[in-house]
Amino acid sequence: MSSTVVIGAQYGDEGKGKVVDLLADKADLVVRFNGGNNAGHTVVVKGKKYKFHLMPSGAIQGKKCFIAAGIALDPKVLKQELGQLEQEISLVIDPRAQIIMPWHNALDLAKEEAKGKAKIGTTGRGIGPCYADRVSRTGIRFCELVEAQRLKEKVERQFGEKQALLQKVFGKEIGQSKEEILADYTTLGEEFSKYLGDVSMEVSEALKGGKNVLFEGAQGTFLDNDFGTYPYVTSSHPTAGAVFTGVGIGARAFDRVIGIVKAYTTRVGEGPFVTELKGELADKIRTVGAEFGTTTGRPRRVGWLDLPLLTTAIRLNGFTEIALTKLDVLNGLEKALVCTEYECDGKRLKEVPADLKELEKCTPVFEDLPGFEVKGSEKEYGELSEKARSYVEFVEKALGVPTKIVSIGPGREETILR
Ligand code: IMP
Repeated sequence: MSSTVVIGAQYGDEGKGKVVDLLADKADLVVRFNGGNNAGHTVVVKGKKYKFHLMPSGAIQGKKCFIAAGIALDPKVLKQELGQLEQEISLVIDPRAQIIMPWHNALDLAKEEAKGKAKIGTTGRGIGPCYADRVSRTGIRFCELVEAQRLKEKVERQFGEKQALLQKVFGKEIGQSKEEILADYTTLGEEFSKYLGDVSMEVSEALKGGKNVLFEGAQGTFLDNDFGTYPYVTSSHPTAGAVFTGVGIGARAFDRVIGIVKAYTTRVGEGPFVTELKGELADKIRTVGAEFGTTTGRPRRVGWLDLPLLTTAIRLNGFTEIALTKLDVLNGLEKALVCTEYECDGKRLKEVPADLKELEKCTPVFEDLPGFEVKGSEKEYGELSEKARSYVEFVEKALGVPTKIVSIGPGREETILR
């Protein structure tokens, strides 16, 4: 039996999809527990690229997939995604999952626009407003989507209020009439009713029965609604603790909690970024690493590896190991810089300060490591060049957590297991 949790250690886009796909081979169940289609998980198998926003990345391995209670589910997006998959899908969706409705998308965009310079840079997928309704106890859940009468009652109650808010406060529209929304979502509910199942119960039973369960986190630690760089965060919890509340399983120790760490740092949207690079070098890394949002296509901000960020991520998530991804993207640089500490008001910090005001004042203290090359064809860790190994081992030693997976290219086979 094994339970494995995969968590983004930085600001999302660390390469979780590839690692989940790799690990799904040995899993019986793959479970998404947070976020929604703000996520974009890319998996490349035999040169074919799959992009998942909602479906667990274990889907191409034909594994039983679960969308748990903690998810904000846009049924239109799920329908598209299911349509793209060639194989038969075994999918269970928890009755408690929250449904993203058209007014959530409209409100997300309207609120961002109204924030002006203070905007967060959301993906505009309705995530924040959907989770806000959950917390306000007005959200529509999957069990209501699949029952026409209950859906009708909910839409009747919500539509007027959301329309008034959009029109009167923001001068915007939902973009669809109540009747159109009802017709669309009733059809989606009918189509999806076959997926209804108690994910909390099924996953708990699977764990008890000794099955291999893989929990797939979305986004990254520093987008966590409490522990990220608030308010420049998402509205769910991409940290390991959210597995318990997002799926509905009892507190337990996991066999593996894998922190996915990109060999450098990227961030989409606004918010502090201590090791951010600008100019030619940033453009080069962005281009080589294809650092453009899977969901929105936006160019990602790029910077050096940040150890205080990772040290904090280890504390918050309890990583038992690290998967270092995209090492190949740093190929051919004269030097690879690693931030070992922050300097803030004359003090040296080993971790990310809790208060954004303090974080915004932090500057990086760098260690220069020699540049390196990886070929992408290496099969064993020992086949990597000495300089590439020095980079991996410098990071590993500084963090005190073993690096068990090193990814040296986008394909499933371009991976070294240690
Ligand atoms: P939201 O989750 O769409 O509300 O966006 C909030 C912040 O999280 C924005 O800065 C987004 O760019 C960022 N974000 C949300 N999802 C992801 C993701 O999957 N990868 C990277 N950044 C994300």
